[in-house]
Amino acid sequence: MTRMTEQELTDEVVARFDATPDDRLRTIMQALVRHLHAFAREVRLTDDEWMAGIQFLTATGHITDDVRQEFILLSDTLGMSMIVDMINHGSETAGVTEPTVLGPFYVPGSPERGFGESMIEFDDGGEESIITGQVVSADGTPIAGAVLDVWQNSANKFYAVQQPDVQPPTNLRGIYRTDDEGRYAIRTIRPTPYPIPDDGPVGRMLDATGRHPMRPAHVHVKVSAPGYRTVVTHVFDERSEYLDSDAVFGVKDSLIVSFVPGDDGLLHCATDFVLDPA
Ligand SMILES: [Fe+2]
Repeated sequence: MTRMTEQELTDEVVARFDATPDDRLRTIMQALVRHLHAFAREVRLTDDEWMAGIQFLTATGHITDDVRQEFILLSDTLGMSMIVDMINHGSETAGVTEPTVLGPFYVPGSPERGFGESMIEFDDGGEESIITGQVVSADGTPIAGAVLDVWQNSANKFYAVQQPDVQPPTNLRGIYRTDDEGRYAIRTIRPTPYPIPDDGPVGRMLDATGRHPMRPAHVHVKVSAPGYRTVVTHVFDERSEYLDSDAVFGVKDSLIVSFVPGDDGLLHCATDFVLDPA
């Protein structure tokens, strides 16, 4: 009688999913098993390391609740969220604004703001800024009535949703619309780098691997218009620290812009959003 090989075990587990009625579920489960086994075999995973992994995932579950989602944080810090974003939201059309992670701090239902109206509702000493530009189609046609759903963190590093007792809930959040020429204007503060929550298992993983938890300064923008693919993206400040080492891998060169001092005492940031026809 011959001894069972590692490959024979993998093949047997994969085959056990052959009868899965749903084709997509079968594809996912069999690929998951193949890759998990390949991982264990590649690193020659020890008993203790397997248990450490189980305990890490258990701790990740335990710290997760309605507002703290440690599994998404884990996905983000492993670059999984970005690869899924690229697979599903990447555009082949040249010049179209690149997407990046939605992140955990998006709250639907932000207040409508007029053209150039401020979304600052809390004095945190941030540098007052105005972000302006156009929303256009891939062929350059301005898009009137496009919706820009905007959110960012305070100069104290936190988003309003993280500080319900400190910031007004709609601070630094707003829904803007483009005018007849596709132009928009957002009055806000210059964004500030901030750490992702690092007091849980993901923070310990970053620490143990010599990584920092910081994200470079950015403003979140979700741009949509009828007849176009919605893009969820960021505006990154080119003078921010951490552009080369974003903890969640969200930076793309095309999304980095400059904030330039103007005669009016505001920092000016000019950037256009280019949408792909649906
Ligand atoms: Fe963010």
